[in-house]
Amino acid sequence: MALCVAFGLNAKEVTSVNVIPYPQSVEMQKGAFKARGAQFNCDPSVDAASQRAIRGFAIQLSKICGKTSSFATPIGIANTAKNGKIKGFAFYADPALKSGEYTIDITSKATVVTASDRYGFLYAIQTLKQLLPVEIYGKKIASDKVSWKIPAVKIKDAPRFGYRGAHLDCARHFFSVDEVKRYLDVMAIYKLNRLHWHLTDDQGWRIELKRYPELTEIGAFRNGTMVGKDWESNDGVRYGGYYTQDQIKDIVAYADELGITVIPEVDLPGHMVAALATYPELGCGTGPYEVRTIWGVADQVLNVGKEETMVFLENVVSEVADLFPSEYFHIGGDECPKKEWEQSPECQAKIQELGLKDDEHGTAEQHLQNYVTFRMQKFLETKGKRIIGWDEILEGKLAPGATVMSWRGAKGGIQAANAGFDVIMTPNSHCYLDYYQAKDKKREPLAIGGYLPIEKVYSLEPTDEISPENQHHVLGAQVNLWTEYIASPQHLEYMLLPRLLALSEVAWCQPATKDFERFKQTVISHEFPILKLLGYSYCLEIEK
Ligand code: ACM
Repeated sequence: MALCVAFGLNAKEVTSVNVIPYPQSVEMQKGAFKARGAQFNCDPSVDAASQRAIRGFAIQLSKICGKTSSFATPIGIANTAKNGKIKGFAFYADPALKSGEYTIDITSKATVVTASDRYGFLYAIQTLKQLLPVEIYGKKIASDKVSWKIPAVKIKDAPRFGYRGAHLDCARHFFSVDEVKRYLDVMAIYKLNRLHWHLTDDQGWRIELKRYPELTEIGAFRNGTMVGKDWESNDGVRYGGYYTQDQIKDIVAYADELGITVIPEVDLPGHMVAALATYPELGCGTGPYEVRTIWGVADQVLNVGKEETMVFLENVVSEVADLFPSEYFHIGGDECPKKEWEQSPECQAKIQELGLKDDEHGTAEQHLQNYVTFRMQKFLETKGKRIIGWDEILEGKLAPGATVMSWRGAKGGIQAANAGFDVIMTPNSHCYLDYYQAKDKKREPLAIGGYLPIEKVYSLEPTDEISPENQHHVLGAQVNLWTEYIASPQHLEYMLLPRLLALSEVAWCQPATKDFERFKQTVISHEFPILKLLGYSYCLEIEK
């Protein structure tokens, strides 16, 4: 809904819109458009997926307003709209626009939307929904006191970055298909377009593989979980779960309909204790292994000196890759202690065989991890995929073509981009949503630590300290939601919201359109009511 700013005593002038992420260009016009019952006309040149989304919007508007907005696809809408002869909602394709770009021109007669692809139309619909009263997000017919007039405005908009991500750790705690869909739903409202899905870790293997059914029979369940921060404790409750391949396909398709690509992560060669508990022969012989019941980094890692382990990894990523159409595959690579490899005869023999040595780039064992990264990269290339890895993959020597996800601050990303690698910025200083969001931790549910208020997320500038000629290597930014201390959907959403909205402006808006005060007022007055209506949990700290 439009934001009204008072001028003088009586006059009110609408000067901006309550839309997050804020559009690139907003020009307020005179008058207002009556959305209730307005006819929808969609040019037949609009692709089928966009037509489905537009029709869905028309149905929702009809239901909530209690008056039918009919939907039709007559020929010639583009010309009628261009001549200014159109009434109601009109949508047509403009091939001159880039992917994701859109325009909305609202007058008292018509709301005309253009885009060149389904992403542009999806983003335009999200913007239109934000311009309408919040009731549009509901399930029930709105009160007849609600005004369905949208102030006239011209909007031109396009994303700053192509990668606008949210990560979700379903390994430490498992979240149902429905909850993952709710996560995707809220991402879509704020034009986020990548779900980085962390599916395997020491504490649980969450993806069904037909070739290795034991990974979910054994690796998906742990014998209890530590309680709070007591590292010696165990709640004694067997815990686990996994997604079947049908469920994975369902989530991938659901996300796709919302314009979101799901990127799977199989974290290797560390963070693999759940796999080791399943197949102890893949370890360095330091068993017995059990699916980990405490958090933290395990010294137990895969024995990558054995060819059998490498074949296992190739088989795993192959089957996982087949379930996800995403161009990218995340191979993890973080926090792989080298203690076991230093002691392992097979790993040391492999180091000898490959002629790896300590040098100015790293230790022989770090080079051994590069060998694993490179093999995964080459293997996944045969499946048409590119790899992403956490910034540890930079240690040793990274092969061209890998994308680095910078998490230990921004320095890894800065170094990688300046060296010509593509980068996704997720520095823990700005993007770790498992950190507390209030200064007074007593008011908050238990978190891993840290302090990350929403202002700090908002302040991230992903290309800072990257030379101008290398800034195009920054693909975008992402928030990460690790779930060691987050066991319920309500807690998960509370940690996500509203900080996700800050990331959406970081990744969508040009620096000149960012304004924390405007953002904050919109979150409080407009986004909180939307989230409330949709039943999400969220943190109110921004109001303090
Ligand atoms: C990470 O937080 N270990 C990537």
